[in-house]
This record gives sequence, structure tokens and C-alpha cells, in this order.
Amino acid sequence: MNHILHVVGARPNFGKAAPVLRGLRQRGIRQTLVHTGQHYDRNMSDVFFDELEIPEPDFNLEVGSASHASQKAEIMRRFEPIVLERKPDITLVYGDVNSTVAAALVCAKLLIPIGHVEAGLRSFDRTMPEEINRMVTDRLSDVLFTPSEDADANLLREGMPKERIHFVGNVMIDSLIRLLPAARRRSTNGFPARFALVTLHRPSNVDNGENLRQILESLTRVSKGLSIVFPVHPRTRQRVAAFGIDTQNLHLLDPMPYVEFLSLQARAEVVITDSGGIQEETTYLGVPCLTLRQNTERPITVTTGTNILVGDDRKLLVSELEKIVHGKKKEGIAPPFWDGHTSDRIADILQRM
Ligand code: UD1
Repeated sequence: MNHILHVVGARPNFGKAAPVLRGLRQRGIRQTLVHTGQHYDRNMSDVFFDELEIPEPDFNLEVGSASHASQKAEIMRRFEPIVLERKPDITLVYGDVNSTVAAALVCAKLLIPIGHVEAGLRSFDRTMPEEINRMVTDRLSDVLFTPSEDADANLLREGMPKERIHFVGNVMIDSLIRLLPAARRRSTNGFPARFALVTLHRPSNVDNGENLRQILESLTRVSKGLSIVFPVHPRTRQRVAAFGIDTQNLHLLDPMPYVEFLSLQARAEVVITDSGGIQEETTYLGVPCLTLRQNTERPITVTTGTNILVGDDRKLLVSELEKIVHGKKKEGIAPPFWDGHTSDRIADILQRM
């Protein structure tokens, strides 16, 4: 492959693309970077480019927020002329966000090969928009880079040819390993000595006022034993305000840059989340994670890692938190190939093609 085009758009893409861009640059391969602009707030986008040393995008489509259909349609409309002009040998797409599947659809129609980084993950829950994005993107992809062996099994079961599947490990962990020393050097001034770190943004948790209120009330109940530190996604911030929820016992913060958030994750007693990537990062760090979802597309974080699915069972959330406050924590180990060299494996495969 002589010319590789990358598409990123939303916060979780940046830590995945950064090491692959670096690995390919070191091998002297020509690259084009497209940012769709799905995430556009400084704290949701620019700070990640700075910290992860991602080069300035060649194109920013500046699509912004909209309904899923409109957002994807706008990405496709603005991305197509770039692909026609640049004619890459392959387009790499990352993860499961709207930008990922929109870019894959454009390339599939133009007969440009597609590589999917973080292929094969399945929650088997089609109410999650990301599950649709994952299934469609994998179906359209010619090269499937998987983070764990359960992903290989899913793809094989769906009839994907074995030769397309490459088990390379978790590329986001490459970024984590690179920036963990800097995160550990961060000062802890201003943060409580013992704290739980919370992130919430999934529509199923934050779009329904009663659900969001119940979750935050459960956290407030344990906040006497453990301070609750909560960097708030813009979507969640809007909902908390709209529903008039009382958050005075929680430490609400703006969305955080990567290194600062990593320093909090590494020091937290427990992380409570509905994010996908954070389930993986806590598993690597050995920090207990309580996931506010019924299922996960990352089952390895439960089977070998530190993750526990608490779903919408608020009593379970409180009892698991109380166990942790009293020092009873789930132990885990890092899965195979979550070792900081995933991007090298990806770059080697692409260089040989
Ligand atoms: C997206 C991804 C999700 C990922 C999450 C991480 C999809 C379907 N979802 O969800 O998988 O876990 O990113 O953050 O792609 N907003 C801002 N500023 C921004 C970005 C968003 O204010 O820079 C607000 C807007 O009101 C927007 C809302 O957040 O409507 C949701 O943004 P969107 O990109 O649609 O989805 P996320 O919830 O961020």
C-alpha cells in the first residue's frame, strides 16, 4: 500500500488512529488524514490532536451534530469528493462511531478497499447505534484488524473469510502505554484522596430523566464513603440541566484531555462508566470498572479483566460500590496483544500488502 487515507471523527477515534499514523509515518508511507468534525468542541477534539501528536488533518469536513441519518449523510456527501480526488490505495476507519460507517459506505461504493481497526466486536444489541455501525462497517471491509479473539470468532461466524481477519490486539492500549508515564506524573492537587471516576453519555442512560436521576442518586448515596468525580460529556451536561437534577454532592467537571483523564483513571478506586473504551483501559490498568450497561461488545474485559456489568440494577451498583469502598476488588489481567505494539502489527501488514 503506497497511500493510506484515515478517517477520524469522534473522541474515541483519536487514540486509535494516533499510533497507526505514527507507525505508517515511520515506514515512509504516504498518508491523508480526514476529520469529519463529528466532535468539534476543543475538549472533545483539538486537545486530543495536541496530546496524541496527531498531525493537522488534511481535510476537516466540519459536519457537527445532527440526527444520526443527517450526520452520516452529510459526512458521505462531503467525503466522497475527497476520495475521488485522493484515490487512496486503502481507507482505514476506526471503531464504531457514525463517522466510521459513513466513510466505509462511501469507499465501498467507489471500490476503494477498506481496513477496519477494531473489527469484530459485537454486543448483539441492535438498540445501540454503535452495533449497527460495527456490523455494517465489518461487512464492507476488506481488511479486519481485531482487538481480541472473541472478535475473530464473531467475524468467522458471520461468514467473513479467514484471510481478511488479522488479530493484532488493542490499538488504543498503544496510546495508553505511551502516555501513562506522563499521566502518572500529573499532580493530584485539587482531587480527593479516594474517589470514584464517573463517565456517562449513552442515550439509554442519559436521555431518560428518570434513569439519569436514579443513577446520580445512587452515586450520591455512596458519596460519603467515596468522592464522585464526574467529567461530563456535553450531551450529558445538557440533559442534567434540562431535567433539573441535583448534583451538589458530585464533583462535576468539563470533558477532560486524554492525559488528565488517564491520570484520574489510574488513580481511581473504581470507574463507573457506559463507555466502550474505558472498560478496556481500566482492564489494562487493573482498576475495577462498573459498567452501566446490560451487555458489552468487549466481553474480554469481563472474562479476564476487571469489568462488572451492573446494567440498570441500581441496588447492584450500590452494593458493588460498597464492596469496593471496603477493599474488595475484582482482579484481572491484560488480554493477549494489549501490549503497546498493535500499531506496529497493523503497519507491518499494510506495508506487505
Ligand atoms: C459518539 C459515539 C459514541 C462514543 C462517543 C464518545 C456515535 C453513534 N456515537 O457519541 O460511540 O462513545 O461519541 O464521546 O457515533 N456534542 C457537543 N460537542 C461535541 C460533540 C458533541 O456539544 O464536540 C453534543 C451535541 O449536542 C451532540 C451530542 O453531544 O448532539 C452527541 O454527539 P454525537 O457525536 O452525536 O454522539 P456522542 O454521544 O458524542
